[in-house]
Amino acid sequence: MAKSFDNTVLIGLSASKRLANNIAKELDIDQCDVEIKRFADGEILVNSKQPLRHKHVIVVQSTSKPVNETLMELLIALDSFKRADAKSIFVVIPYYGYARQDRKASGREPITSKLVAKLIENAGAGHITIVDVHSSQQQGFFEVPVDILPAIYVLMSAFERRRSLENAVIVSPDYGSVKRARTVAEEFNLPIVIMDKRRPCANQAEICNVLGEVEGKDCIITDDIIDTGGTLLASCKALKDRGAKSIVVACTHGLFSGEAEKNINEAVEQGIISELYVTNSNEGVHDLNIRNLTIVDLSQLLSKAIKIYVNPKCEYGNSISKIYKSTKGKILN
Ligand code: R5P
Repeated sequence: MAKSFDNTVLIGLSASKRLANNIAKELDIDQCDVEIKRFADGEILVNSKQPLRHKHVIVVQSTSKPVNETLMELLIALDSFKRADAKSIFVVIPYYGYARQDRKASGREPITSKLVAKLIENAGAGHITIVDVHSSQQQGFFEVPVDILPAIYVLMSAFERRRSLENAVIVSPDYGSVKRARTVAEEFNLPIVIMDKRRPCANQAEICNVLGEVEGKDCIITDDIIDTGGTLLASCKALKDRGAKSIVVACTHGLFSGEAEKNINEAVEQGIISELYVTNSNEGVHDLNIRNLTIVDLSQLLSKAIKIYVNPKCEYGNSISKIYKSTKGKILN
């Protein structure tokens, strides 16, 4: 075992097993097996197979579909590790479910993202790492330190290995994604296009206006989540209506719920979408059959962050923000 990881174990829970395996290989770090049992009524029991007393524990779990199951598993695991007297508990949540419920969008709505943050913290998390959370101010929902790692550089590094950026514009599919899109546009010196999206009701998206030039352009849509694909497909239609030459999608979390797989495949077949790039934050993506989809690995990015947490004298220094741009994403398919 590498010296910098003495006294440290990595635990991949059920939603992030493959990613945890990739991280373990990248870091040459010991993994600790946990037993996850389900009782007849659905209750979950999590038990580490090895002692954790005085150890640094790094837990990897996306709270992806089925979100309530994966979240509950994480909470129970954290409680068990805390009671096993772990020295410190770092929680890596590649996809943080419920992040879209980050404000009262209308009267009597809950702020579930904050509720979830409190639950995770109270269960035992001492430090949180999330990849591309829906809105960065959610850091304030936690009292413990939080790092939010952007995946866009990892996605763009995979994209650049296959395509040219010469005629490209970066598209934000709504106002919420403008900051992300602007960061990429500035980094790659490209123009930005902003969609004016409305939601007439939950899970339905409508593009009212498009701000910026798209005619004859290769459009790269950047977003945090593809869930039903409604936002994406409405954006594609608006871009095509305005004469876009091609559309590529670079999105961190590919949830692909409901009819998303079918609808996106149709859009690819019709030549509306040329290619899609998502990360492996939701491992369910490996079981889907989406045409022209590239899955990009987050393990290198997360491994660098973990090195910084566990060994402040590592080669990256102690600044998390310095690791994003230099990290290339391995293509998994
Ligand atoms: C919305 O604000 C998010 O950034 C995503 O655009 C949205 O959650 C995607 O959801 P769907 O695919 O269901 O439109």
